[in-house]
Amino acid sequence: MTKDKSQYTKLPVHVAIIMDGNGRWAERRGLPRTEGHRKGANRLKEIVNTCLDIGIKYLTVYAFSKENWKRPITEVSTIMKLAEYFFKREFDKFKKKGVFFRHLGDLEGLPPSIRRIIVDMKSNDTPDRNYEDKRLVMNIAFNYSGRSEIIEAVKKISGKVLNGDVKPEEINEELISESMYTAGIPDPDLLIRTGGELRISNFLLWQSAYTEIWVTRTLWPDFTSKLFKKALEDYSKRDRRFGGLNIYHS
Ligand code: FPP
Repeated sequence: MTKDKSQYTKLPVHVAIIMDGNGRWAERRGLPRTEGHRKGANRLKEIVNTCLDIGIKYLTVYAFSKENWKRPITEVSTIMKLAEYFFKREFDKFKKKGVFFRHLGDLEGLPPSIRRIIVDMKSNDTPDRNYEDKRLVMNIAFNYSGRSEIIEAVKKISGKVLNGDVKPEEINEELISESMYTAGIPDPDLLIRTGGELRISNFLLWQSAYTEIWVTRTLWPDFTSKLFKKALEDYSKRDRRFGGLNIYHS
């Protein structure tokens, strides 16, 4: 049975996903790893549609990390081609459905064709970062590293301190959050990781301080909408205390 937004007792506003396991999925079938990425891209489309159906407001996916450049050139170039295809072909279809795309990561090192698409994407970003009229804001972490993001934020803030716009004692969580790639986006409530590994892998390090983590051994190409809904269901039962005490459960 399909649940709609009203049927979840507590729905995450922001869901982040580490889409892991494409390579293993392919290897288990005797296929090249690149085939797993192709299946993974299709799975991503399905999950974006599910987010639209359910009413998730922010979705952040980890599509390519800075560390992923260490992979064989054939695998890297397949991911680049898939990303370009996804950006060119799927963006417009999803935009018509009310999806707003954002990029998290470094432009440096990306192929010019992808850089152009991302620069264009950034030029459409609303200056006041008010996404009220969007059904879904989708952040694509591509050429992303959580530590690099923090380094960039420190550089931005240092510049402001040096030119006198900010006093060192004025540096607080809000200023740091507003200096990250995710400025204007609430921290993720739920982080889903497929593929079974129990680590964060340099993803949203600052933003995930109080994020609920949900891991499945299911590999990303096999991650169905049904399983996604199970993660949402489990999340709705979590007791989030943010370091405090929940008097009703003590
Ligand atoms: C991790 O699986 C997955 C990736 C590094 C790439 C994810 C890419 C996609 C889902 C393609 C779509 C991309 C865009 C931008 C639309 P892995 O290869 O590390 O799997 P393994 O742990 O089994 O080796």
